[in-house]
Amino acid sequence: MVVARARVVVLASGGGTNLQALIDASSNAEYPAAVVAVGSDRRRSGALDRASAADIPTFVTALEDYADRATWDAALAEATGSHQPDLVVLAGFMRLVGPAFLERFPNRVINTHPALSPAFPGMHGPRDALAHGVKITGCTIFVVDGGVDTGPIVAQASVPILDDDDEASLHERIKVRERELLVQTVAELATDTYRIEGRKVVRP
Ligand code: GAR
Repeated sequence: MVVARARVVVLASGGGTNLQALIDASSNAEYPAAVVAVGSDRRRSGALDRASAADIPTFVTALEDYADRATWDAALAEATGSHQPDLVVLAGFMRLVGPAFLERFPNRVINTHPALSPAFPGMHGPRDALAHGVKITGCTIFVVDGGVDTGPIVAQASVPILDDDDEASLHERIKVRERELLVQTVAELATDTYRIEGRKVVRP
């Protein structure tokens, strides 16, 4: 029996190690999802290089090429939608997607954040956790809504903060855990029919 794998479009702005983890996982035919395209808001990024190296189609939708945010958001939705994703994964995508994007893929956009939500939302999760002096932080995978790292939580993993951690060492340790959690969560979402009830992601 041939079972279709879930089609995943990944959006990324940076180095793309989370993307790479998904590419590596999907190189195993038994993995229930496949990365079918990678998009970025930056013309050059490690993520785009990683996609090209794996022969995965790429697209760039850069904010500065559009008259305003709404037009950019609609173009991003169109470019992403042209690859017919079952699931969209934001993996270090450093822009907020807007209403047109979220309406096009209702409850099918997930994001990964390097902190234990609802603590430390935004661009500097590891830095903010260190500055606050917490002893445990981690990563959160959530369904994207209109807020900043506020959507219903799908999965979390904890990471201890060590006395001699700086932002880079902490973020690197979080990312090791984050990549595993992302690969596992995408596999689960690809095989389960999940639904959102209030703040909860309910799976069979
Ligand atoms: C990841 O830690 C991701 O959670 C974070 O950017 C990193 C990307 O790493 N995203 C955010 O902080 C968004 N709020 P990568 O490019 O190596 O996958």
